[in-house]
Amino acid sequence: MFLVAAGCAFGQAVNTQATPAGRAAGEKIFRSHCASCHGVSGAGGTGPNLTTGVFYHGSTDADLYRNISQGIEGTAMPDQFFNGVQIWQIVAYVRWLSATPVRPKLVGNAAHGAELFRQKGCSDCHLVRGEGGVRGPDLSVIGSQRAPAYLRESIVEPGAHVAPEFWVAKVITKDGKNHSGFLLNQDSYAIQMLDFADGLRMIQRADFKDFGIDRGSAMPSYRDKLSAAELDDLTAFLASLERPREKN
Ligand code: HEC
Ligand code: HEC
Repeated sequence: MFLVAAGCAFGQAVNTQATPAGRAAGEKIFRSHCASCHGVSGAGGTGPNLTTGVFYHGSTDADLYRNISQGIEGTAMPDQFFNGVQIWQIVAYVRWLSATPVRPKLVGNAAHGAELFRQKGCSDCHLVRGEGGVRGPDLSVIGSQRAPAYLRESIVEPGAHVAPEFWVAKVITKDGKNHSGFLLNQDSYAIQMLDFADGLRMIQRADFKDFGIDRGSAMPSYRDKLSAAELDDLTAFLASLERPREKN
């Protein structure tokens, strides 16, 4: 009884907001709170395309409700502070987006992109399915996390969106040595960093001569190092790195 009322719990049988009015309300919230990452039409950006009908983190209404209200742990998908009725309105809108899938046109050749990924040194810094370096984010499932246009931009303009875990800490110690690397941890006495030269390192603040954080990217821009066709191929390769479905 209780469970069929709008917005009570995950377990409700029918989304009572799946009406034209509910969807329209959901669309409004989507435009103000989701479009910055998922695109105005839901076709993706910093976040994945939500129009394909495939939801890797679960595709029941209850799954969507949970992912939208609580966020997805360990990913850039944030939790949201809306009431239950509003969340159901967003669920109704997100579900409706799949009625007209938007499939980005990928002109590149993914197999050639995979070769370029090694040849151009991308794999020196990035892991893909267990192979590669760790000086950048693991790209094993990046095709499920970002839209192709974002991926392409990341290659030519790495500084455009840099997550805080990839900001670069730069330290000069009193003995005159320079260190740079990703900041892993800090407290009032010391910092822990992944030094680009020699791995995990702890430095006492008392030993600092100079300390700063660079919010730019540690990745070089490939703007002038790749032809347009190579960029298409790399983008197609990255977009093909999809996550296996958890549920559905
Ligand atoms: C800061 C960027 C950001 C915002 C804002 C954001 N999302 Fe997301 N969202 C993501 C990312 C990134 C993922 C992919 C997580 C992953 O799989 O790694 C995601 C995943 C999802 C998923 C799961 C997709 C799947 O395949 O299962 C849904 C559904 C979703 N978002 C809906 C929304 C809705 C609705 C809103 C607004 C209320 C929203 N998101 C706001 C970044 C964002
Ligand atoms: C010197 C190491 C280095 C090299 C070489 C490198 N990257 Fe990166 N890359 C990074 C770092 C660090 C980040 C995270 C900071 C940022 O977003 O710019 C990153 C971010 C990315 C992202 C965005 C990931 C996300 O979740 O936002 C993509 C896509 C990417 N790189 C692809 C490539 C490709 C393709 C190449 C080769 C053409 C390449 N990278 C070469 C270090 C590198």
